[in-house]
Amino acid sequence: MNVFSYLDAHEEQHRKELEELLGIPSISALSEHRADVRRAAQWLRDYLERIGFASAEVLPTQGNPVVWAEWTGRPGAPTALIYGHYDVQPVDPLELWTSPPFAPAVRNGRLYARGAADDKGQVMAQLQALAALLAAEGSLPVNVKVLLEGEEEIGSPSLEPFIREHPRRVEADLIVISDTSMVDHGVPTICCGLRGIVDMEVHVRTAATDLHSGLYGGAAPNAIHVLAQLLAGARQGQGRILVPGFYDGVRPLTDEERAQIAAVPFDEAAFKARLGVEALVGEPEYTPLERMTVRPTLEVNGIWGGFQGEGPKTVIPNEAHAKITCRLVPDQEPEAVAQAVVHYFQTNCPPGASVRVDVGHCARPWRADPGSREVRAAVRALQESFGREVALARMGGSIPVIEAFDRLLGVPCVLMGFAPPDSNAHAPDESIPLETLRLARRALCRFWHELAAAG
Ligand code: BES
Ligand code: ZN
Repeated sequence: MNVFSYLDAHEEQHRKELEELLGIPSISALSEHRADVRRAAQWLRDYLERIGFASAEVLPTQGNPVVWAEWTGRPGAPTALIYGHYDVQPVDPLELWTSPPFAPAVRNGRLYARGAADDKGQVMAQLQALAALLAAEGSLPVNVKVLLEGEEEIGSPSLEPFIREHPRRVEADLIVISDTSMVDHGVPTICCGLRGIVDMEVHVRTAATDLHSGLYGGAAPNAIHVLAQLLAGARQGQGRILVPGFYDGVRPLTDEERAQIAAVPFDEAAFKARLGVEALVGEPEYTPLERMTVRPTLEVNGIWGGFQGEGPKTVIPNEAHAKITCRLVPDQEPEAVAQAVVHYFQTNCPPGASVRVDVGHCARPWRADPGSREVRAAVRALQESFGREVALARMGGSIPVIEAFDRLLGVPCVLMGFAPPDSNAHAPDESIPLETLRLARRALCRFWHELAAAG
């Protein structure tokens, strides 16, 4: 049977399989979901075995397990390593979801659930393409390894140690990832660069306890004000980061890079409308797309302290906290950026307060060679399936392990991403169009054949 007829005949089955996986709340950031994370890993292992990967295993790491499998039926042909993640981001604010995040629902041709786009939907498109090839053709065009992790959304802390410990399991001639977005509706997209990241928490302390704001207000230092001032001072207006040393190592953009970014379709008015904002922020000398993909950032992700309960409470809080992440571009080093930010908070903390900065996970920025044979095979497959010219785009998000793959394995990475720009990844009502998943499965089947034909 032809593989595309097979895909057509199994569309509903493929949707149901994905819905099953989406029903498992594998949130890696929350320890109460540890068992669910393991359940998702086990589910994927069983799935891989069912579609023809007899070798599928759940392997322990320092943290959440890795799902691993290989198919080696093509001696002499290249071996690809498919990487993806089965963990998802937290779902709050829960009340803003139209349907519960772990009860997948179809509305207007889109499948809604946490992980629908990032990344379970894309992982399943990859695995279902393999399933279709194995069922319809009895074999794969190349050898394939599968590596799915459960800690991507918390910075992949266990994956580099895993790769170092199991070099043979990750040995491959290329890496294939579907965990990125499409630049516009229906525009097949290959990601050619990702930003790095540094994750931090800032803790400000003032007095020994909270204080009565009437009796002490005016003289006692307030931890929230201290934190607010420090955060505000880190940025000039809405733009440039004022942390000394923050931009050290940032490679200036070449005219060619700017031209490549300008070639990516971007409608600023439509973009603002989609976000529901009237104005964009950032460095005026860069375009919005440049600011979001190739310029570094410092963003507050969360802030807490003081009284949050119902009704008024007249108190001077003695503690305030913030979660911060910086996005990094070539050639910034995570350790240097972290040190610069820590130093900024420490040297600017006013008398009467103390500040502690805890540095969390880090990842380096990454760039691909858009002209590699592997990327060209992907371009052909995507173009043929989507019927549209392929966009090659650098993106602002991070896949923490990718730079380690590059450094430790030194093989090309092909990032074919299928999350549409309005997929609401990491936000309420995450979704993906079923039609995009359908085209993705077809494109991936084509890709494996194109790759084999490219030799
Ligand atoms: N799939 C995303 C990364 C992504 C999305 C890259 C769209 C490019 C375009 C991934 O799952 C993700 O969200 N990564 C985190 C990593 C972080 C928690 C270390 C991110 O970028 O915030
Ligand atoms: Zn994500």
